[in-house]
Amino acid sequence: MAQVVLEDIYKSFPPRKSEGVIYQGAHRNESVNVLRRISLTVEDGEFMVLVGPSGCGKSTLLRLIAGLEDVTGGNIWVGNRAVNQLQPSQRNIAMVFQNYALYPHMSVYENIAFGLRLQAGRIQREEEKERGREGEMGRGGEGEMGRGGDGEKLLNQFLNKSLKIAEDLLVASAKKLPKGLRYVSDKERIVNERVVNVAKLLQIEKLLNRYPKELSGGQRQRVALGRAIARNPQVFLMDEPLSNLDAKLRSQTRAEIVRLQRQLGITTIYVTHDRTEAMTMGDRVAVLNRGQIMQIAAPLEIYNRPANRFVAEFIGSPPMNFIEVKFQSPCLITKGDFRLTLPENWSSALKKYNGRTLILGVRPENWNLSLPATKNLPAQVEWTENLGNDSYLAVKLIETKFEKDYLVTDDLQVRVSPEKLVNEGEKVWLSLNPEKIHFFDPETELAIFPKSNSPSLPFENS
Ligand SMILES: Nc1ncnc2c1ncn2[C@@H]1O[C@H](COP(=O)(O)OP(=O)(O)O)[C@@H](O)[C@H]1O
Ligand SMILES: [Mg+2]
Repeated sequence: MAQVVLEDIYKSFPPRKSEGVIYQGAHRNESVNVLRRISLTVEDGEFMVLVGPSGCGKSTLLRLIAGLEDVTGGNIWVGNRAVNQLQPSQRNIAMVFQNYALYPHMSVYENIAFGLRLQAGRIQREEEKERGREGEMGRGGEGEMGRGGDGEKLLNQFLNKSLKIAEDLLVASAKKLPKGLRYVSDKERIVNERVVNVAKLLQIEKLLNRYPKELSGGQRQRVALGRAIARNPQVFLMDEPLSNLDAKLRSQTRAEIVRLQRQLGITTIYVTHDRTEAMTMGDRVAVLNRGQIMQIAAPLEIYNRPANRFVAEFIGSPPMNFIEVKFQSPCLITKGDFRLTLPENWSSALKKYNGRTLILGVRPENWNLSLPATKNLPAQVEWTENLGNDSYLAVKLIETKFEKDYLVTDDLQVRVSPEKLVNEGEKVWLSLNPEKIHFFDPETELAIFPKSNSPSLPFENS
């Protein structure tokens, strides 16, 4: 297990000559800057979710950590090791992809065992070391090395090597025998133990003899997870591993991955574009947009105190509503006839916006259907969506500034209790809970926080 540290990571790809596509203003013969200034520390054993819209650079970042791509700038540490120069196989990282490619011609058992065998030599050495240490302790500190001279050591090495060759021969020649009669090498015993343990953990013991084509999508995904877990890596990287599953299986597997991660305590970086996964799985969430980190915080902190408009809109479904309002010191916001006095703790933070425009942010659940009043906003219901437990209204604000012609403007989403029957076309008055509002600077789109409620730093290292 290990901490993962990303320090000021940049990544750009050289231009692809065959393509005339312009990406984020980059022309054909310019390189594409995919990641900028990424600094992030994932603590030992932590579950970090990396979330962002498609194309923002999530997979690229994972591939950099895994060593499948080289960084353009910056450093990556896993544990105490700088891994920039290390091959993927030397990094002790396991990656689970969206398209969990299992080997189709191998059984589930073999799929999990395959990578392990390559590793098993190392495991065996580790176990031997472990046994040696136990032995030393058992003998009251009299170390093995202490007993013999160099000659004895060499002899032991030679004997071990000869035994190993003899064993490999035995295994090879016994392969054709029925299972019970086969000779099982130490290495194969270790592999078998690991496979069986992992299968138990994931409850796929009964599937070990099946082939991938005989499995459902969810079962295949578990095998892919099993293959990664069996390797006992220091770090798990998962790239949208659930996106091929149907909704029910997705939520089951989601819970299972969280449980496994807690149980195994392996540092995990989990990539998704799914807001529910972001809110429910991680200890912390890093929100990525256009190759940059927008905010790193615990899920509820991200939800309750988004650092900027992008995060506010991206996390939460339906997204937060944004309305342009005018601000007047000390604490008044207006829009047409609408006038609302804010709680006092906003006054100092908003002072510099006196007479200027501000972006007001309100989540769909923080509106209420209310009575006509200037502190409420009039709106017309465009359509309704009743989900049984919740009901959503899509409304347009009605500005009454121009007395005769109603000017219908901003679209809003409002969550109401399903018992409230509202018809399409109806006019409603919306009140908002002043304790649950957000403000954003119209130019920088950064969040403005009221005084008593000062935020944690949106960026980890600034
Ligand atoms: N090998 C590559 N060469 C050029 N551009 C690439 C390469 N790989 C990814 N990109 C670009 O980098 C951006 C981020 O891609 P990716 O990391 O796959 O995003 P995400 O996983 O967040 O959807 C995309 O615009 C993509 O086209
Ligand atoms: Mg991706």
